[in-house]
Amino acid sequence: MEWSGEEIAVVVLAVLGAAGVFNPRQVPAAPWRIEVVLELKTDMGEDGKMTYAIEVCELVKTYPGKIRALDGFTLAVKPGIIFGLLGPNGAGKSTAIRILNTLSRPDSGTALVDGMDVTRKPGAVRARIGCVPQKSGVDPEATGRENLELQGRLHGLRGRELAARVDELLERFSLAQSANRLARTFSGGMQRKLDVALGLVHRPHVLFLDEPTTGLDPEARAAMWDDIAKLAGEDGITVLLTTHYLEEADRLSACVAIMDRGRVVAEGTPERLKSELRGDAIQIELMRAAQDGVVRAALERLDGVSEVAVEGRALRARADHGATAVPPILAALELAGVPVAAVRVARPTLDDVYLRHAGRTFAQAELGGSR
Ligand SMILES: Nc1ncnc2c1ncn2[C@@H]1O[C@H](COP(=O)(O)OP(=O)(O)O)[C@@H](O)[C@H]1O
Ligand SMILES: [Mg+2]
Repeated sequence: MEWSGEEIAVVVLAVLGAAGVFNPRQVPAAPWRIEVVLELKTDMGEDGKMTYAIEVCELVKTYPGKIRALDGFTLAVKPGIIFGLLGPNGAGKSTAIRILNTLSRPDSGTALVDGMDVTRKPGAVRARIGCVPQKSGVDPEATGRENLELQGRLHGLRGRELAARVDELLERFSLAQSANRLARTFSGGMQRKLDVALGLVHRPHVLFLDEPTTGLDPEARAAMWDDIAKLAGEDGITVLLTTHYLEEADRLSACVAIMDRGRVVAEGTPERLKSELRGDAIQIELMRAAQDGVVRAALERLDGVSEVAVEGRALRARADHGATAVPPILAALELAGVPVAAVRVARPTLDDVYLRHAGRTFAQAELGGSR
């Protein structure tokens, strides 16, 4: 095994730190070393094994009517990051979250959250997690402050401690001005912020956010993104975010898993997943809907062009070199009697990653349901 200089330095610092020779937080120089040492400390359990904030192995969940919502769902999430669980509607995201939140039991498989087994130690799991379900848990007939106070009391907070935590959260989510209004008078964005605040009252280690921005307008969505980014960045909370917005996962997550039909089909940093796709995405708008077979036949024999797919008037393909591929593609389409309205060449997106692994686009999966 070969060690890089950086790794050796880290190990030396870690050993010195463990032996009490110095406190890693007080080392003056080389800030990266301190960061890495601290990360090593949080990622390692007492037995020296890697500990994950969330560790899921082969979950299966079937609903009546033989709907296999989870079908061997496996996942490992490092502590302190935003992890994006991405998939079209019906992929099984909410089912997975409900099991991790101890609200539902799997047919088989295991899941640990913050080191605790969700079926064996549900109480311990609940004390460590915050849940923001897809459907709002806000009481519309109570004020913002009352909603938070009730949630705090449910978690055993009382008196000054409760009041201070509620004020802190109202301030943090820019709800202080509206704290005494009934929640039903809140805008969609404010209700969602209140939902997130409710999930944070008892300072959880792991926060589950199920579709936090679905139904929000673009401005409220951008504000919510800022709030979510701060959770992992400033508070060190592990956030498991589910979304069917590819852009959202791409922007916020250090790591993503793409789900389809109850299992993970691709996992990694958004950058790595995209860089695994060679070449560029070609997006062509056709003058009118064309048959997939006709278009494929016309394009697939072109050198360096692959993964041709047509949905209505939208044609997508992958090309080793986007710019040089466009003229022959246009010529071949012309010859096949398929007129083109517009062409775009783009770097790969997570949608392309999904297409590669699931065999259809997000839009197709959402229209057709995922099973
Ligand atoms: N309580 C339920 N009873 C029966 N089927 C369900 C139930 N909840 C979800 N499903 C089905 O399980 C599949 C996965 O759903 P869900 O976990 O909600 O996916 P997602 O959150 O990714 O949209 C879908 O086919 C859905 O219709
Ligand atoms: Mg859902």
